Amino acid sequence: MSTFNNEALVNEIKGRLSIINLVESYTSVKKTGKGYVALCPFHDDSNPSMHVDDDKGLFHCFSCGAGGDIFGFYMRYNNLSFPETLSELAKKAGVTIERQTESTPKKSPNSSLYKINAVAAKYYRKMLQESPKGKAGRDYLEKRNIPEETSKEFIFGFAPDGWDNLAQFLAKNKVPLIVAEKVGLIVKRKNTDGYYDRFRNRLMFPICNVDGKVIGFGGRRVDEEDDPKYINSPESDIYQKRKSFYGINKSKDFIRREDRAIIVEGYTDFLSLYSSEIKNVVATLGTSLTREHASMIRRYTNNIVFIFDGDVSGQKAIVGSLNVLLQEGLSPRIAPLPAGTDPDSYIKEIGEKKFTEEIENSVDWADFWFDMTVSKQRKGLITRKQMLEGIVELIEYIKDPVERSFRIKKAAEMLGISESEIYSLVKRGRGQSKTTATTTKTKYPTIEKQLMTVLVKFPDLHVQLSKEDWSELISNAEIKSIIQVIIDEESTDPSSLLLRFEDNAAHEIISEALLSSPGVTDTQTASKIVQGCIEKLKLAKLDEKLRTLRVEIDEARKGKDVELEKQLLEEYRDLSMQKQREEGRAL
Ligand code: UTP
Ligand code: MN
Repeated sequence: MSTFNNEALVNEIKGRLSIINLVESYTSVKKTGKGYVALCPFHDDSNPSMHVDDDKGLFHCFSCGAGGDIFGFYMRYNNLSFPETLSELAKKAGVTIERQTESTPKKSPNSSLYKINAVAAKYYRKMLQESPKGKAGRDYLEKRNIPEETSKEFIFGFAPDGWDNLAQFLAKNKVPLIVAEKVGLIVKRKNTDGYYDRFRNRLMFPICNVDGKVIGFGGRRVDEEDDPKYINSPESDIYQKRKSFYGINKSKDFIRREDRAIIVEGYTDFLSLYSSEIKNVVATLGTSLTREHASMIRRYTNNIVFIFDGDVSGQKAIVGSLNVLLQEGLSPRIAPLPAGTDPDSYIKEIGEKKFTEEIENSVDWADFWFDMTVSKQRKGLITRKQMLEGIVELIEYIKDPVERSFRIKKAAEMLGISESEIYSLVKRGRGQSKTTATTTKTKYPTIEKQLMTVLVKFPDLHVQLSKEDWSELISNAEIKSIIQVIIDEESTDPSSLLLRFEDNAAHEIISEALLSSPGVTDTQTASKIVQGCIEKLKLAKLDEKLRTLRVEIDEARKGKDVELEKQLLEEYRDLSMQKQREEGRAL
């Protein structure tokens, strides 16, 4: 919302700064016939694939998909948040931002929380680097062979031994202790006044958000006698475990570039991989993956490889995380490690090259699940019935009918039961309606994209859509949200649309749409295209329903459910007729 209040300011800045001048100061730009092309700084670009349109104030890379306006460029290049970008570009443009007075906390209620974490991180860093009190931390780093480079890049620190080193430091520097308590750095004493430090005699790992702001800390014991091994910041207004990945601020660009994310469990697993050149990695910090995690990672890639400890708890974490990812329509791969190892110890044991091979040899989630379930039963950990249930659950997650029947066949062979028995256990269509949209996320559905592209350029045509049950027709979540905004605001100009999706995957397709070759220039043609897209989408929707029905009819037949089969056949007939009518109309 707050970005919206900035709209006037944003437009003022855009009016004063030329995007070409900005881009030129970061990468080489060439003039072409109608615009400019540049070497894209957001991926390894050898041929200029970034187009810049100075009149529209937009850029878009047709190779990696990065795109947006001057704000998007600056923000991404410098890894800044939107407010930071706004204030820096305002300075460049010579525009003054009218600040609300410091005492109005309304503007950003969390800024004091971030600030205090930054102060603490600096304090811990200083302790680790130069204080006599930090010797235990320095010794520990040496013992674990953690290079200074890593320590510096991830701002490791040390919380000295003793009850209130930090509390006293903060008090001396007039830092409000209540705020420090809010982020969990210090804890109120029970019986007397004052506070004590949460982290004592621990190596401190600051946890950052995507923008690199410190939102919490993990503190590892340096004395193996201390318990627990890690103490983490409690949840606060700026730190929620379910939404945070350790290291994402550093690795996100690598993940995007390699179009793959490696997910590990712990701080040291992350650090080991990252410092050995496997940089497209994040860590979940001791929780299993949540839906929020899944949607966050999806901004950067759809390809996920899990590498978890080869023990029972590691396996449990995989299963929990798998469920979440599958529900989100992501199909991860898994690299199981030998029991008793974790990514950190294993890469040290076998070296980076072999470890990379393990990643390349990771297995499809369904194979992993199948083998794991079977081996559990063989080891007597679960009953035969539980094994069957496990496999049925697996099959329920598979949406592709061909893949599904392949798995059913394989399971039937292995279990020595008939395919129809398994069919009868598999629930009808579970997960089918929900996630078909998001499974092929990187490639936007062509028609939907075409529709969106025309609408972005001719927002007034939204009326043609609002007549229809349009949201049923669009499967892609980003395209849907863009169209929703255009409809809600009853036409929208391109820059406020971009602003609206700042820092969001949708941003890129909007900029692509705006910069794609003109194609249509008159409203009449555009309107025809919109109508054509709508008809095609309706037909596609019907086709999809028919396809699903065919599979379901097949399953009902194999499961010998006569009643269900009959009912489905009727549905099928009705829909086929409806399709014929629609086809007549589309001609
Ligand atoms: P591990 O016990 O596997 O630790 O916990 P680790 O990451 O291998 O750490 P090192 O190598 O022994 O130093 C995995 C993750 O679970 C969380 C931490 O995020 C840790 O990185 N954890 C573990 C805790 O939060 N608290 C604990 O007491 C233990
Ligand atoms: Mn470890």
